[in-house]
Amino acid sequence: MPHEVQGVIARSKGSPVSVETIRVPDPGPEEALVRVQACGVCHTDLHYREGAITDDFPFLLGHEAAGVVEAVGEGVHNVAPGDFVILAWRAPCGTCRSCLKGRPWYCFDSKNATQPMTLADGTVLTAALGIGAFAEVTLVDAAQAVKVDPTASPAAAGLIGCGVMAGLGAAMYTGGVGRGDTVAVFGCGGVGNAAIQGSALAGARKIIAVDIDEKKLEWAKGFGATDTVNGGQVDPVEAIKDLTDGLGVDVAIEAVGRPETMKQAFFARDLAGTMVQVGVPDPTMTVELPMLEFFGRGGALKPSWYGDCLPSRDFPMLIDFYLAGRLDLDRYVSETIAIDEVEDAFHKMERGEVLRSVVMFDAAR
Ligand code: APR
Ligand code: ZN
Ligand code: ZN
Repeated sequence: MPHEVQGVIARSKGSPVSVETIRVPDPGPEEALVRVQACGVCHTDLHYREGAITDDFPFLLGHEAAGVVEAVGEGVHNVAPGDFVILAWRAPCGTCRSCLKGRPWYCFDSKNATQPMTLADGTVLTAALGIGAFAEVTLVDAAQAVKVDPTASPAAAGLIGCGVMAGLGAAMYTGGVGRGDTVAVFGCGGVGNAAIQGSALAGARKIIAVDIDEKKLEWAKGFGATDTVNGGQVDPVEAIKDLTDGLGVDVAIEAVGRPETMKQAFFARDLAGTMVQVGVPDPTMTVELPMLEFFGRGGALKPSWYGDCLPSRDFPMLIDFYLAGRLDLDRYVSETIAIDEVEDAFHKMERGEVLRSVVMFDAAR
């Protein structure tokens, strides 16, 4: 029997989202049905409703979630009903060309549920990032459900499922920040602050936060920035050089998704430094660089997809860090909201008022 529940739907390009009745099937082989407790509002949800990702409307939004497994299908061994899980939008297939090369964090054929969720009239929904968790229950591939310590708060745990993981991993994995490194992070939203925390966890000795909003720079200090630079008031490249004995940083992380900040990150590096691009650009953006600077500076320019994470390895570890007081996740939760407040939360996000609005479902409210 399919489950009839409320979900947040984007029906057409640019129109406000609505809460509608959806049908979620019982889990088939390899699938898990998850009762969602909390789901953060991420930029990618807004990009879906703006038609910036695909045209496969209608979308069931939400993908930064934690909840409890309600039922599993045949052949599921990694989770059982009652388990507290974080949902991942990367569940390596093990058989694509990247997995076979031993690089599952790039998996090109990540697993998702095979049965679709639908509107009440049977219209097939596209689940955001293969999750669709602005709904009381959702259906995923069981490998997308990663079991973590159930004493963690659902609102905090869900954040590990997307933006916070992307930022932490941009520093810890893509950037390879190590003990004693100097780091600059451009953009101090949820992703940038997580890159700051990831740098601190990895042992960076100096972490320079760059933003154009003073309030964001204040928040960044709370996440572990040792220095702040207002890129709207001073040249951030010069300011970063001044803070690093004229050298520049070992790792520069771009967490805005704009050409000017990408160029600043490129030039803010020391010789042989690494630049990480975790901010997502739009299709119109281009960057021009002197080729000699690219060659002459050496190092590496690296895009970071989901922080090069492996959810089954990283989610339980990060929740343990959280519970041990080594990773503050509660600080991201600017507000908790109800399922019918997602559209308002998009506007708050656009105005830069929040780090994260988190939808809480009845079971957890
Ligand atoms: N220089 C420095 N900071 C800037 C600049 C600039 N020129 N322009 C904007 N910013 C800051 C904003 O003030 C804001 O604090 O960048 C930050 C971006 O944060 P959010 O909008 O909250 O975005 P976030 O959720 O952190 O995501 C950042 O990563 O995953 C991607 O799609 C996501 O592209 C987005 C990026
Ligand atoms: Zn794969
Ligand atoms: Zn996201």
